Amino acid sequence: MGIEVVVEGLTKSFGKQSIWRDVSLTLPAGEVSVMLGPSGTGKTVFLKSLIGLLKPEKGRVLIDGVDMVNSPERDIYETRKLFGLMFQDGALFGSMSLFDNIAFPLREHTRKKESEIRRTVMERIEVVGLLGAEGKLPGEISGGMRKRAGLARALVLDPQIILCDEPDSGLDPVRTAYLSQLLIDLNAQIDATMLIVTHNLDIAATVPDNMGMLFRRELVTFGPREVLLTSEEPVVSQFLGGRREGPIGMSEEKDAATLAAEAGAARPAGPRVIVPQLEPSPGLPARRAVARRRERVMGMIDSLPPAARSAIRDTYAANAGAATLTMPAAGSGA
Ligand SMILES: Nc1ncnc2c1ncn2[C@@H]1O[C@H](COP(=O)(O)OP(=O)(O)O)[C@@H](O)[C@H]1O
Ligand SMILES: [Mg+2]
Repeated sequence: MGIEVVVEGLTKSFGKQSIWRDVSLTLPAGEVSVMLGPSGTGKTVFLKSLIGLLKPEKGRVLIDGVDMVNSPERDIYETRKLFGLMFQDGALFGSMSLFDNIAFPLREHTRKKESEIRRTVMERIEVVGLLGAEGKLPGEISGGMRKRAGLARALVLDPQIILCDEPDSGLDPVRTAYLSQLLIDLNAQIDATMLIVTHNLDIAATVPDNMGMLFRRELVTFGPREVLLTSEEPVVSQFLGGRREGPIGMSEEKDAATLAAEAGAARPAGPRVIVPQLEPSPGLPARRAVARRRERVMGMIDSLPPAARSAIRDTYAANAGAATLTMPAAGSGA
């Protein structure tokens, strides 16, 4: 099962440039979380800080008792093996086949026999839907396939925490939808704790259990998805609405362009509809995080804003209805 990641008071700057201050949040074990934020707000820096590749000046990142900021380098190195990382560009070796790319971490970090490596690699290739393409070079396949190969490589060491840095960048909306489903399917199959950094609004709306947003050197908020999706905070609703009007300006130039492209720049203002979270594909096990999340969220519901509260109640009421509708024979006598 995935491992909880506790971030406490994390503060990072480069020289005089402050990136973010006092970031605290918990990635609940086995749940899927999304971090939103305009370009340049330090999302990648945040991911690198979680795995101890960058050192914040203040704060802690606690994983299984190890502090990825302040613990001895040897402990950090060991704990880093719990992570699977999917980088923005897939980061594949151009001269190696997909098979060899995906096998690379196993050959590098384990003493597994070639037959065992083959079995693990082919299993992961199947999980990400690349069976048959294992002999291809990265240059011979589409961007979406390269992303999936990057994801397969992130999976070979059986990570308990998976970090994905803008897994959608460069993908069209259809491929992004497939990727969203893949991330949920993956979570159902391995129950890993997942953090996805993205500014894709569709992923944000359909994939995570929890969502946060970085803006102007602060964590605006982090919590159950319903909190952000119903938030009246101007920066959040502007971002999720893909609108020009609001605190996010053209100084985040690249991001405005990306958002305009992704959202058609014309999502209407006004109340947002919360679309249901994706379910695992038919035939896959249920996500084990769902029951844990429900208990956790119901335990904190009284501390949440009213709009989030009623959205959460709606979510769980709808789920209960769907469950009895689709599985009449599986009822436990209720
Ligand atoms: N190793 C580094 N040294 C100095 N500045 C850096 C380094 N890495 C990132 N930055 C700066 O930190 C800021 C946030 O970068 P990044 O985390 O890549 O943003 P995002 O991923 O949200 O687009 C940027 O201004 C970037 O130039
Ligand atoms: Mg980045």
